[in-house]
Amino acid sequence: MFQPRRLSAFEIAKRASDNFDKFLASHPIASCIRTHFDCDQGDAGKLKHLLDQDFGQEPLDLVIDDASHLLGPTMTSFNILFPRLRPGGVFVIEDWSWEHYQEGRPGFAFADEMVTGFARLVLIASLVSAHQPDVVSKVVLMRGIAVIYRGTSELDPEEFAIDSLMGERGKQLLSV
Ligand SMILES: C[S@@+](CC[C@H](N)C(=O)[O-])C[C@H]1O[C@@H](n2cnc3c(N)ncnc32)[C@H](O)[C@@H]1O
Repeated sequence: MFQPRRLSAFEIAKRASDNFDKFLASHPIASCIRTHFDCDQGDAGKLKHLLDQDFGQEPLDLVIDDASHLLGPTMTSFNILFPRLRPGGVFVIEDWSWEHYQEGRPGFAFADEMVTGFARLVLIASLVSAHQPDVVSKVVLMRGIAVIYRGTSELDPEEFAIDSLMGERGKQLLSV
């Protein structure tokens, strides 16, 4: 839909379904698309390597995270990808609030390892936008989608850690 010059996708499954392979092969922008299977979003080294390979120094316009929906791996890939966005670039986190809308739903059972406080990442990004709008300029929330806009500051992808940028008040509020 966006006609990107390059679109890269990362997926933990070992391979694509046959239908996906067929869809991709027939897509008008197939030659712009890179797919990376067997890639865990929590594997920082692999993700950095693949991003360098696909994009080099070129900044990203848009990231859409619809992967593990667990706090740890999502935080890892957010810290790698967010500073690679261009100023004004957009980071979308799908189902950021799933633990909350599933709570109490009849027939839905949480496995312990699924409950990681995923929404915390969005709370952190919101407090960063309050404290340092040059880093996160805006956070827009819908029930199932969080849209986090990158500010204009230079960000060092090697050092970037979103939870270190909330200021003391933010840290107090989230008891970090
Ligand atoms: C909710 S599905 C979304 C798939 C696709 N975006 C869509 O809308 O059809 C989540 C996908 O994330 C993948 N996934 C889960 N954990 C992951 C991880 N740690 N790293 C990368 N991908 C992961 C799953 O295998 C699954 O294909």
